[in-house]
Amino acid sequence: KKIFAFSIRKDEEPYVKEWAKDHPEVEVEYTDELLTPETAAKAKGADGVVVYQQLDYTPETLQALADEGITKMSLRNVGVDNIDMAKAKELGFEITNVPVYSPNAIAEHAAIQTARILRQTKVLDEKIANGDLRWAPTIGREVRDQTVGVIGTGHIGRVYMQIMEGFGAKVIAYDPFENPELKKQGYYVDSLDDLYAQADVVSLHVPATKENFHMIDKDAIAKMKDNVVIVNCSRGALVDTDAVIEGLDSGKIFGFIMDTYEDEVGIFNEDWRDKEFPDKRLKDLIDRSNVLVTPHTAFYTTHAVRNMVLNAFDNNLKLINGEEADTPVKVG
Ligand code: NAD
Ligand code: COI
Repeated sequence: KKIFAFSIRKDEEPYVKEWAKDHPEVEVEYTDELLTPETAAKAKGADGVVVYQQLDYTPETLQALADEGITKMSLRNVGVDNIDMAKAKELGFEITNVPVYSPNAIAEHAAIQTARILRQTKVLDEKIANGDLRWAPTIGREVRDQTVGVIGTGHIGRVYMQIMEGFGAKVIAYDPFENPELKKQGYYVDSLDDLYAQADVVSLHVPATKENFHMIDKDAIAKMKDNVVIVNCSRGALVDTDAVIEGLDSGKIFGFIMDTYEDEVGIFNEDWRDKEFPDKRLKDLIDRSNVLVTPHTAFYTTHAVRNMVLNAFDNNLKLINGEEADTPVKVG
């Protein structure tokens, strides 16, 4: 049996080697290159592939893999929004993902950034670096004084709720599929409008679906409280960036936390130090003292990366062996 893995980073290599050592019956090969129509042939002879990329899995890419006789594909991440599912179905692909590699990684990041924005740490850091050690006017807001509105109470949203409660915040939530335990405890409001009306912090923990595209738009922002903090550690497509910029300019939005950006593909996780920065709007956001940009690194912890690699290989081997995978993705 053979598994070929694409776009293996240096930090993933030890975990690939760990899995290979524990599975001597499987031949494991890998490359640091992304899976594209051009690179698919590298997997020649493999029974399955392990992949991760933000680049789209286009019909051409899937076809190129199928041409090599490979239709078992295991993602090392959660999101499946970049797979052409119609083509995958047509070609008979079996796909798995790793939906729960470490909710804490993302929730912790969102919580840290929320606390940072409320205490204006970016403003303070900039002032201190310039020799301005005065307190005023950089006064903080305590987390315990905030009502934190969590949109999406799945794996990540629930951990974020716990952390924010640990800080003493009042937590409310909205999810069309209510968690029975949270419902009993009275966290849910009836609608997004109710959440917007009450929340000082609005944090998104929902997938990017067609229905959720730009759910945070001009209308949604208008319904929020003045001085609201918006947290997006989920997906860029959930937020209409122009509407947020308008809210920042008008002073309606106190702070914006973005670990994801609607135009991030090809920009995040690249080195722009000696090149012209390709996105003026993003540069403008990065330069603002009340915007915290991270390049989709919320997930990026040793705990998460190890689980992503090991779980993806486990899943792929199950597909190859004709067993039921732990976390199959619905194809189609
Ligand atoms: P999950 O599937 O466990 O939970 C998502 C929840 O969102 C579900 O309970 C669902 O009912 C709810 N939901 C869907 N649409 C909604 C809406 N319009 N309003 C309110 N609730 C809605 O997913 P998860 O593991 O908690 O992950 C959440 C998201 O985080 C993922 O979809 C992904 O986009 C993002 N994510 C980001 C990173 C990162 O590094 N920044 C890493 C992993 C995942
Ligand atoms: C996901 O797992 O879907 C993420 O958003 C993290 C990814 C950048 C590896």
